[in-house]
Amino acid sequence: MKFGVIGAGQMGGGIAQVAAQSGFDVVVHDVKDEFLSRGRATIEKSLAKLHEKGRLTETPAEVLGRIKFTTDLQDFADCDLVVEAIVENEAIKAQLFRQLGEIVKPEGILASNTSSIPITSLATASGRPEKFIGMHFMNPVPLMQLVEVIRGYSTSDETAQKVTEAARAMGKTPVECNDYPGFVSNRILMPMLNEAIQCVMEGVAEPEAIDQIMKLGMNHPMGPLTLADFIGLDTCLAIMEVLHQGLGDDKYRPSPLLRKMVQAGLLGRKSGRGFYSY
Ligand code: CAA
Ligand code: NAD
Repeated sequence: MKFGVIGAGQMGGGIAQVAAQSGFDVVVHDVKDEFLSRGRATIEKSLAKLHEKGRLTETPAEVLGRIKFTTDLQDFADCDLVVEAIVENEAIKAQLFRQLGEIVKPEGILASNTSSIPITSLATASGRPEKFIGMHFMNPVPLMQLVEVIRGYSTSDETAQKVTEAARAMGKTPVECNDYPGFVSNRILMPMLNEAIQCVMEGVAEPEAIDQIMKLGMNHPMGPLTLADFIGLDTCLAIMEVLHQGLGDDKYRPSPLLRKMVQAGLLGRKSGRGFYSY
């Protein structure tokens, strides 16, 4: 199977890495060579870590040898499955899927790793809605077990089955759900992170205290503010906007502090600063 990934950021890089670890030939696209180089460096670091711990049977170089990095979308023409992992913006994703719908061979499956954008709407843009699906990996992809598989309105059983098999072949556990705002994962997770940010804004406690309370009190592996920084505050804001718009209830309104931090360019770990400095 030839596996395509669009976007070489933290998610796209991780998906490409795990696909290559599983023996697939992988092609990864980003808009600039410097973004591809950054993605490649992150993959190399992760593979080295896994190798050092004995969790990789091959050498990192062997795995990397199966990944081709490109800025040319035409390289995706013969892909069997293409997973998109670019910025969480519906208009930009829809534009990309219009292009991919023209480029990728007709039997190829198109999938989005979106955190919250309607799968059905992206499926329509792709022009092949029955061969379109949500394939939602969790961050950090090399370590997390889940793939949330989201069926759009027209996703065929065959597409769902093939994507489920691909997720299993990547050593992941696929779990299916339907296409409603935030799906299951982010409909439940993101309001908690937003509420933690609201607690910072209202001065309920310092960020460190909020994180410690949730880590030690609820046995969460990361506190909510550390996790928001890890996900990216721009991505968290985009997800809250989709929940608020799609579900309507005021409980999904993004915290004004989250909005202000994104406006200030504090995006969390990826920009070097969010609730903490990196
Ligand atoms: N590749 C390879 N190795 C990695 C790695 C990666 N990408 N990331 C971390 N590691 C390594 C670390 O280097 C560390 O190695 P050492 O033991 O040699 O130091 C090891 O894995 C374990 O990491 P840590 O000791 O730092 O910490 P940990 O045991 O807490 O595990 C974690 C790390 C799995 C990330 C854990 O903190 C965790 O589960 N955090 C929550 C993650 C989570 O909630 N993810 C979902 C986010 S939401 C989402 O993804 C959906 C969305 O749409 C927003
Ligand atoms: P990121 O900012 O780390 O990476 C996005 C990458 O996409 C960048 O390298 C950017 O240059 C590239 N890109 C932007 N527009 C592009 C285009 N038109 N064509 C090709 N490449 C383009 O973001 P991320 O955290 O990897 O998130 C990517 C997607 O995955 C988003 O939809 C996000 O909601 C989703 N997601 C994120 C997480 C998370 O924890 N960060 C978890 C699950 C899903």
